[in-house]
Amino acid sequence: MSRAMDVAGRRIWVVGASSGIGAALARELCRRGAHVAISARRADALQAVAGEWMTAVPCDITDADDVRQAADVVAAELGGIDIAVLSAGYWKQMGSDFDVESINQHLKVNVGGMANCLGELIPRMNVQGAGVIVGISSVAGYRGLPGSEAYGASKAAQINLLEALRVRLRPDGIDVITVCPGFVKTEMTEQNTFPMPFMVSAEQAGRAIADGIEKQSARIVFPWQMSLLMRVAKLVPDRLWAIALTPRS
Ligand SMILES: NC(=O)c1ccc[n+]([C@@H]2O[C@H](COP(=O)([O-])OP(=O)(O)OC[C@H]3O[C@@H](n4cnc5c(N)ncnc54)[C@H](OP(=O)(O)O)[C@@H]3O)[C@@H](O)[C@H]2O)c1
Repeated sequence: MSRAMDVAGRRIWVVGASSGIGAALARELCRRGAHVAISARRADALQAVAGEWMTAVPCDITDADDVRQAADVVAAELGGIDIAVLSAGYWKQMGSDFDVESINQHLKVNVGGMANCLGELIPRMNVQGAGVIVGISSVAGYRGLPGSEAYGASKAAQINLLEALRVRLRPDGIDVITVCPGFVKTEMTEQNTFPMPFMVSAEQAGRAIADGIEKQSARIVFPWQMSLLMRVAKLVPDRLWAIALTPRS
């Protein structure tokens, strides 16, 4: 693999790393020689992931003050933040009733929480004149899927937000990478009862994301089967999409 940027020696903050993709990625980055700090709400789970190799800094991304304090601690512990991975996220399938509370909760964590992190990272990276922000969105943001109204809307918002920031921050030397995983076996997908094609392990996801960061890809989508499927799905006309996904009675 040709590497445009080695993560070895980089100071990396992974937010949402007490389990799942964030935890696996943090371990992978550590293995590749990065200096890693990790955050999430569950302090015990976070410390278990951190072991003696990473710095654990608990924080709730929905609380802007908490994020600011965590960013201060991480920057002090690592001596700066070169790369930040925003992996914290929330998913709950929408039932048969339209659930306004669920929409608001998804927006609060996935969009508001990401915004709180960005609000801390962008000014710091601007001062440095360099930095990489990696946002973990989802292929669920590509098209509207029944049951995924709340989650999908929040993931589509993340994709759009990160794309706009990639343009805005480019002149400042800050790169933005959007990650759109397909199904990954984590605590998040444990609750799902529907089929999850092409599912990969958290470790495979961690490696794919670390590879993408080192290649400086603008968008990292995996596994390739899901990437292909969703690229085709994006081309399906809206009316046909609705007809194709309407359950047959
Ligand atoms: N698994 C999949 O199939 C899949 C597919 C596409 C995209 N994704 C995305 O990948 C990301 C990681 O998900 P995952 O599958 O690894 O699920 P996970 O194992 O449930 O991990 C979610 C992480 O987010 C943290 N988190 C949640 N709310 C938080 C908050 N308010 N403040 C700080 N941290 C918070 C959790 O830690 P605490 O509970 O300790 O706070 C945990 O570390 C999410 O953005 C998800 O949407 C997952």
